[in-house]
Amino acid sequence: MAIRKAMVAGNWKMNGSIELVKDMSDAINSIKSPEIDVILFPPFPLVSAMIASGVITGAQTVSENTPGAFTGEVDAQLLKDLGVNYALVGHSERRSIYNESSDVIADKFARAQSAGLIPVLCVGESEAEQESGQTEHVVAAQIDAVIKKLGVAALKDSVIAYEPVWAIGTGKTASPEQAQAVHKFIRDKIASLDSDLAQGLTILYGGSVNEKNSELLFAQPDIDGGLIGGASLKAASFVAICNSA
Ligand code: G3P
Repeated sequence: MAIRKAMVAGNWKMNGSIELVKDMSDAINSIKSPEIDVILFPPFPLVSAMIASGVITGAQTVSENTPGAFTGEVDAQLLKDLGVNYALVGHSERRSIYNESSDVIADKFARAQSAGLIPVLCVGESEAEQESGQTEHVVAAQIDAVIKKLGVAALKDSVIAYEPVWAIGTGKTASPEQAQAVHKFIRDKIASLDSDLAQGLTILYGGSVNEKNSELLFAQPDIDGGLIGGASLKAASFVAICNSA
């Protein structure tokens, strides 16, 4: 993990409250260190409070469009103007529940980046895909959708999060070796197009990370930190995970 700065991000999904912003930001601000980037992705109504708390803030999704008649959507530039720094794109819940295709996700990636947000591109295979040996194929296709549309250089100011769908919210974490193998595959794939970019690229692991398994996962050479769901809703757990990075 030495080549790249460690990063721990918490995705609150559709959870949280003003009280939790206060508790969590107090906890995170007390362990602030130049050696690790800690980012929280709260639901939209809590974004302003999170920014005001001093915690680096991300959005859970953005619209692929520029401002216009898109009821209910949220514009990337508006988020940037508010003080948001990151945006998740392609989380598996967006792909599966809201039918976002890899093509639309590449458009969201582009829109986030052009507004000055750092996109965190989430990729990962389902349980059936993993069992049938499709992991590399699926992950490669999800990354290629962005490369084909925007070129490999677009990955320079981005983060990739590998989140096997079968590990999300299930308590079934990928083993450190399993996760490392996929992270190395991702880095090697990008290195075949641009080696310097690949060496500098932050690749996070997500999927049932907790304070008991984070240290071994983060010790892997190609795992630069984590994207944490459930455990990012408990200050003590999240701080322990941050401290293990
Ligand atoms: O984006 C984070 C995520 O999907 C993992 O969730 O609850 O398995 O840590 P969880």
